[in-house]
Amino acid sequence: MPSSSTPLVYLCLLLVPCLLLLQEARAAHHGGISLRSQQMALLHWKSTLASPPLQMSSWQENTSPCNWTGIMCTAVRHGHLRPWVVTNISMPDAGIRGQLGELNFSALPFLTYIDLHNNSLHGALPASISSLSALSVLYLHYNQFTGKIPYEIGDLQSLTQLSLAFSRLRGHIPASLGNLTMLTNLLIHQTMLSGPIPEEIGRLVNLQTLQLSNNTLTNMIPKTLGNLSQLDTLRLFGNQFSGPIPQELGRLVNLQSLQLGINDFSGPIPISITNLTKLNHLFLFDNQISGPIPPEIGKLTMLNQLGLYLNQITGSIPPELRKLAMLNLLYLHENQITGCIPQEIGNLMKLEILAFYQNQILGSIPKTFGKLQSIRVFVTYGLKIDRNGEQPSGPGNLLKAADTSCLTSFIIDGVFELGSRDSTS
Ligand SMILES: *[C@@H]1O[C@H](CO)[C@@H](O)[C@H](O)[C@H]1NC(C)=O
Ligand SMILES: *[C@@H]1O[C@H](CO)[C@@H](O)[C@H](O)[C@H]1NC(C)=O
Ligand SMILES: *[C@@H]1O[C@H](CO)[C@@H](O)[C@H](O)[C@H]1NC(C)=O
Ligand SMILES: *[C@@H]1O[C@H](CO)[C@@H](O)[C@H](O)[C@H]1NC(C)=O
Ligand SMILES: *[C@@H]1O[C@H](CO)[C@@H](O)[C@H](O)[C@H]1NC(C)=O
Ligand SMILES: *[C@@H]1O[C@H](CO)[C@@H](O)[C@H](O)[C@H]1NC(C)=O
Ligand SMILES: *[C@@H]1O[C@H](CO)[C@@H](O)[C@H](O)[C@H]1NC(C)=O
Ligand SMILES: *[C@@H]1O[C@H](CO)[C@@H](O)[C@H](O)[C@H]1NC(C)=O
Repeated sequence: MPSSSTPLVYLCLLLVPCLLLLQEARAAHHGGISLRSQQMALLHWKSTLASPPLQMSSWQENTSPCNWTGIMCTAVRHGHLRPWVVTNISMPDAGIRGQLGELNFSALPFLTYIDLHNNSLHGALPASISSLSALSVLYLHYNQFTGKIPYEIGDLQSLTQLSLAFSRLRGHIPASLGNLTMLTNLLIHQTMLSGPIPEEIGRLVNLQTLQLSNNTLTNMIPKTLGNLSQLDTLRLFGNQFSGPIPQELGRLVNLQSLQLGINDFSGPIPISITNLTKLNHLFLFDNQISGPIPPEIGKLTMLNQLGLYLNQITGSIPPELRKLAMLNLLYLHENQITGCIPQEIGNLMKLEILAFYQNQILGSIPKTFGKLQSIRVFVTYGLKIDRNGEQPSGPGNLLKAADTSCLTSFIIDGVFELGSRDSTS
């Protein structure tokens, strides 16, 4: 016990307000954690902002920061004391214009929660933020940060949520992020990040969402991502990833959404992916994927949306698609698919959008399609014409035209809008 505060103890014995004073005096002996120094750090930051927003008008020297808009305090245990400390800064959508580097993070060591998303913070993401060892949530998306993600961010060992999306951050994803093993959500989409996904990301075993879409990331995606067994959402679309889709992704058995579209992936659809039986969304469109659609795809019975268009997929449409009873959207267009449209697709009662155009699909629209109750748009132009072609004159005819798959056929051009069941009866 610091001797300098001993006289105060006696003075304050019966005076409750004095205890606060005592706490502050004591706190000053423990690495500057006094509420006063936290207040000073926040006020200094405010003074560096270009025209501080109205919400910050409560940030005044003569008031407790615990009473300021956007600030929350908690009483923390500190030795025998429970001083109030600043734990939350929450000012999203506030029009704050300035630099985060001006905030003295070493004076705010108790921060657990920072939400400053959708402001106008510019400049670098300061390495000094790494001193916030209690920080659990860091939402900084929708700002104008530039420069690199500091390597030191890997020191934020309590972090569970990190969002740096929608910024102008550049450079590589630091491997040190792999140290943040408490992370459940890692969102760094729509920035200017380049280079590979570090294989250390595979150490984030608590990750549920990994969203790195719309960047300029390259190389193969690391096999270690297969270790992220809690992952339910993996969004890597809109990058320049190449090489095969690692078959290790088939170990992500909790995955509900796998979005790898708009990249340069090549090679076949790994059969292991058909083990991901919780998948709702499977988007592999706009890649160089070749080979057939594996018939095992029928195991994905929760699948709601399947987007495989704009690839080099060959082979025919597997009749096993009939097992995808939840399927709502099926995009197979712009591939090299051959054969005919299996009648079984007519059993997919939930189908609303269906696109087959620009393939080498031969044959007709199977009669079974008349059963599709909820179909909204039916896009099949470019089916090859076969003998005795008959041009359908309207949606009604379209559904009645063919009796048997692959026997009669016709060219269907454009988009048919089948508004309601009335038009087909
Ligand atoms: C907090 O601020 C309000 C007005 O902004 C004031 O009425 C109240 O007394 C303040 N509370 C404390 C504990 O400072
Ligand atoms: C961002 O905040 C502004 C107000 O400052 C608001 O009008 C806008 O809708 C917000 N944008 C998003 C994407 O939340
Ligand atoms: C930041 O805060 C710490 C702790 O209160 C203090 O020691 C340091 O001098 C401050 N740094 C600046 C640049 O004000
Ligand atoms: C304050 O931070 C905690 C996490 O440390 C969080 O659960 C809580 O929602 C935050 N409160 C506000 C009002 O932002
Ligand atoms: C953090 O990650 C880097 C790179 O992966 C590693 O070299 C370093 O030892 C890690 N630090 C800690 C504290 O785990
Ligand atoms: C990604 O980029 C595309 C095209 O630039 C855009 O339409 C889409 O909204 C973006 N999505 C996300 C999640 O950033
Ligand atoms: C993670 O994945 C890699 C490659 O698949 C593997 O070699 C490694 O043993 C895995 N690590 C753990 C901790 O499971
Ligand atoms: C699918 O999962 C089963 C059970 O875990 C496993 O035995 C099989 O090898 C997996 N198949 C593929 C293609 O990865």
